[in-house]
Amino acid sequence: MYALYQVRVNASGTTVPAIFAYGRTIRLRGYDICDALSCVYLQPKRGITLTDSLSRFGKGWIRVPSYDSQVWEIGRETRRSCTTLSVAPHITLNDGNTIPQLGFGVFQIEPEDTAEAVREAIGVGYRHIDTAEMYGNEREVGEGIRASGIDRGEVYVTSKLNNRLHEPDDAREAFEGTLSDLGFNYVDLFLIHWPLPTLYDGDFVSTWRTLEEFHNDGRARSVGVSNFQVEHLERLAAETATVPSVNQIEVHPYFTNEAVREYGQDHGIATEAWSPIAQGAVLDDPTITQIAENLGKTPAQVVLRWHIQRGDIVFPKSVTPSRMRENFELFDFEIEPGDMDEISALDQGESGRTGPNPDTFAHVPG
Ligand SMILES: NC(=O)c1ccc[n+]([C@@H]2O[C@H](COP(=O)([O-])OP(=O)(O)OC[C@H]3O[C@@H](n4cnc5c(N)ncnc54)[C@H](OP(=O)(O)O)[C@@H]3O)[C@@H](O)[C@H]2O)c1
Repeated sequence: MYALYQVRVNASGTTVPAIFAYGRTIRLRGYDICDALSCVYLQPKRGITLTDSLSRFGKGWIRVPSYDSQVWEIGRETRRSCTTLSVAPHITLNDGNTIPQLGFGVFQIEPEDTAEAVREAIGVGYRHIDTAEMYGNEREVGEGIRASGIDRGEVYVTSKLNNRLHEPDDAREAFEGTLSDLGFNYVDLFLIHWPLPTLYDGDFVSTWRTLEEFHNDGRARSVGVSNFQVEHLERLAAETATVPSVNQIEVHPYFTNEAVREYGQDHGIATEAWSPIAQGAVLDDPTITQIAENLGKTPAQVVLRWHIQRGDIVFPKSVTPSRMRENFELFDFEIEPGDMDEISALDQGESGRTGPNPDTFAHVPG
């Protein structure tokens, strides 16, 4: 049995009631307030003595700095860990839906480790999971979400179409397989994983029209693309009626991918930055380590915060719980404009790319 608390959240000066907390995670109803969240107040329901680590705040309420992971000791009876709040800001997409700007990626997490990683990430506060049919762990993503105990509606779930299945009938079958493997009757976002312009006679347009069907019948709340270059987006704009809600592309300090990002900004397509820390390759860069030292943050936090301040959506992957927490703690500091520019100046153009070039990538899993 977990102790129950009344919780109030102070969002931009307004106290919002009807929030509750139990167990290891403080849960908030109504994530739309989270981007304005500044601090949290707890009121234990039972008359127990509070330790010095919690400061009193009027009428028996205690004030807690938000965002911090900390151990709470209450009345010597219970020791419980209060993990980070779900405070990631939301971005509004061109179809009116919102997406948490910070999520959790599961590429290269072994299926047998995925459910536990997802459950752990949700415990930390992540409410956005990025998977794909090609990652081979959709089933375990669904299991992890169910194991976390939170409602399906509280987690934003993205998946992607396998390169093998671009033909419309294959795509329809694949999408049903994704829903069935996840164990959900909808996804929040479904993407064409790669444009594959050298395959399928260069026809990603009919694939896109098939994704429009999934959006229209409500099984994909939003639809988008991944790894699309400017000319691919221009072709969709010329030949179809729907603008993708997102384009998920490689972006990090060594490969800032500006032309594709700019096209997105100009046409209402949100950029999702994959491999946001370049799988660790940017973390030893002296510019980044110096800025991190000045701010008292880790290099990963600085790089992820740089993405957030640029307005991109990120979902760093980690199977390491301490890194999951580190990567989530991005909302109590800011990088100043000069340092933002210095990080952006690390761009190496095409030679900074770590993944395949979408113009030529033609891998079709067996
Ligand atoms: N659409 C696409 O084509 C595409 C391509 C690639 C990725 N993605 C998506 O983007 C997500 C993220 O990209 P990614 O997984 O390639 O790379 P990433 O998030 O940039 O980096 C993940 C790697 O960095 C390590 N790491 C994580 N946090 C760290 C920290 N705080 N300090 C030091 N090392 C840290 C992880 O190690 P541990 O796990 O061992 O902790 C892992 O090896 C993927 O999971 C996937 O959802 C999409």
